[in-house]
Amino acid sequence: TDALTILGIESSCDDTAAAVVRGNSVLSNVVYGQTSLHADFGGVVPEIAARAHAEKLDHAVEEALSIAQLKLADLDGIAVTAGPGLIGGVLSGVMCAKGLAAATGLPLVGVNHLAGHALTPRLTDQIAYPYLMLLVSGGHCQFLIVKSHDEYERLGGTIDDAPGEAFDKTARLLGLPQPGGPSVEKAAADGDPKRFPLPRPLFNQAGCDMSFSGLKTAILRARDAVVAEKNGLTVKDQSDLAASFQAAVADVLIEKTRRAVDSYLRLSPDAPSFAIAGGVAANGAIRQGLMDLCQKANVSFIAPPLRLCTDNAAMIAYAGLEKMAAGEQDDLSFSARPRWPL
Ligand code: KG4
Ligand code: ZN
Repeated sequence: TDALTILGIESSCDDTAAAVVRGNSVLSNVVYGQTSLHADFGGVVPEIAARAHAEKLDHAVEEALSIAQLKLADLDGIAVTAGPGLIGGVLSGVMCAKGLAAATGLPLVGVNHLAGHALTPRLTDQIAYPYLMLLVSGGHCQFLIVKSHDEYERLGGTIDDAPGEAFDKTARLLGLPQPGGPSVEKAAADGDPKRFPLPRPLFNQAGCDMSFSGLKTAILRARDAVVAEKNGLTVKDQSDLAASFQAAVADVLIEKTRRAVDSYLRLSPDAPSFAIAGGVAANGAIRQGLMDLCQKANVSFIAPPLRLCTDNAAMIAYAGLEKMAAGEQDDLSFSARPRWPL
């Protein structure tokens, strides 16, 4: 076939990733996490991240090529995350990609990390433009109508924190392990979501903007009230707090998605589709609520496999592939952009 074969490189946050994509096939998808390096610091430390990326990128690229059973000479191009993200990490990736492109003469494109997430449902499900996407992770929360590989309409998003960050904070407050999303979800499974009436910020406000910072404060207060009363938290208290928190996040995300779907459907798309991306999309309660909503609205629900929903380089390779297929290419002097709205 004449499908392009692209090497993708991603290093904008705390995952060092390389992947090879040919057309719609993911030939390899290597991700080295850094969770343990940052574990003692309560968050990603930019300097530590950048150094780890610089150390690991070559290995990630070698491994991605070897799993794909390809050599650099077999590629049609190289795509690298050029932003947004932590500048040190983005620079490590861009340097690595430029070095490879200079050495091989392969075409190079700089890709927006958010475009990588946003185009993933095209890689996995080949869905048609325009589609609606909810990107919801530790760092992002926004609704996008994806109209082409370089045309995005932002319908709204968080005005403060991302839900993943709130899940992580809640886990810390409840003494549950990181990453917080999965451990809060697990604790919530046998909890009573109605025991603690937490706020649903901006629920009744028109539009698709969201806010999660007030929820973080509310869960802190609810926990402190229980601790003050009983001198500690029982497992039951933990579960009820987790369940109440998760229900509040899910209610807000689902209500705002309902509004986003309404706006999207006004464009009368031929085959309406709603896709999710980002780590929080793994949450069963949130996912089920979104699926039910789509079913009622007659919109197909697309959930790419989790390893392509969280940070990875296959999505960067694929976004680069769409750019190159449209005849776009960057020269070796393009720069990293720590801030780069879609
Ligand atoms: O997309 P991702 O891997 O990285 C970025 O943030 O860019 O998302 C990670 C976030 C973390 O905050 C994690 O706690 C959250 O996604 N997460 C979840 C679940 N699994 C991961 N949140 C809620 N429920 C989950 N099951
Ligand atoms: Zn991401």
